[in-house]
Amino acid sequence: MDVPVRRLDVGELGNCVELAESRDWTPEQRKWRMLFHVGEVYGIDDPAGGLAGMVTLTRFGTEVAGIGMMVVSPRHGRRGLGTRLMTHALREAKTASVWLTATDFGRPLYEKLGFRAVSKSTQYFARFTEQSVTASRPVSTEDFAAVVELDEHVFGAPRTDLLRYLTGIADDFRVVDGPDGPVGYGVAWLGAGTTQIGPVVAADQDMALTLIAELAGGIDGYVRLDIDHWHPDMLAWAEEHRMDEGMTTTVMVAGDPLPGDRKRLFSPVAVAIG
Ligand SMILES: CC(C)(COP(=O)(O)OP(=O)(O)OC[C@H]1O[C@@H](n2cnc3c(N)ncnc32)[C@H](O)[C@@H]1OP(=O)(O)O)[C@@H](O)C(=O)NCCC(=O)NCCS
Repeated sequence: MDVPVRRLDVGELGNCVELAESRDWTPEQRKWRMLFHVGEVYGIDDPAGGLAGMVTLTRFGTEVAGIGMMVVSPRHGRRGLGTRLMTHALREAKTASVWLTATDFGRPLYEKLGFRAVSKSTQYFARFTEQSVTASRPVSTEDFAAVVELDEHVFGAPRTDLLRYLTGIADDFRVVDGPDGPVGYGVAWLGAGTTQIGPVVAADQDMALTLIAELAGGIDGYVRLDIDHWHPDMLAWAEEHRMDEGMTTTVMVAGDPLPGDRKRLFSPVAVAIG
């Protein structure tokens, strides 16, 4: 199949969801809308209709990009399409570092292309019923610049567009104040049936867990939290709270080590983005 890789637009969102479903991935319309808005989506057409493969790329300045949603239809697997899509995304990224989380299907392919495993990430799901809000407050328009600045310091690259988008779709967006402005923030937004908690940025783990509990307690339904194994005490907290464990993926990086002050980053916005 020598059909070229091409950039997709949001009108093709339905084809992306359909291809994801061909690999039993949950249909995530809202996440796809976000990906089309803040990132770039690339695909290879299936001559029989729809898409044979796809991948997303979300660039944050020149420092770091996140790659995700890499899927090749089972009908076209093991013919080099995945390698072509990832090579294309890496070429387009042009950032110092590229981040992704890999399933066992994807990992060997990514290793061949220069990605190295740096950690693991596990999905947790739970219903929290009580909300005792003591430490955080809802974000206000006046906080936006300070939140962007805090986030850039911790993430190591500007995420202004993403944060602006999140303020529009978030179910809850809370900040924790320090003496000179916000020192932590967390977002809860509705993904595929569950509410994703992320990003979470905090001065320390206690603050992160308080933010997570205060966000999750206000959600009517299941929440999802992706925990990087860099935070073993967070994993222990999830176990203590009897959160249901979902899939574990390998966190991989190509290029430079990730920038920023990552020990204060407690949860990604989504594993497809960073
Ligand atoms: C992971 C995934 C995207 C790979 O796509 P793909 O198009 O099959 O990838 P490629 O064909 O480039 O490479 C896959 C393997 O086929 C081999 N291959 C490539 N062309 C080949 C050919 N013509 N003949 C035989 N083998 C071939 C590759 O060497 C590679 O081997 P390896 O797994 O031993 O490293 C696909 O399996 C998939 O969608 N899986 C389910 C969803 C998923 O897990 N996505 C990854 C998220 S991180």
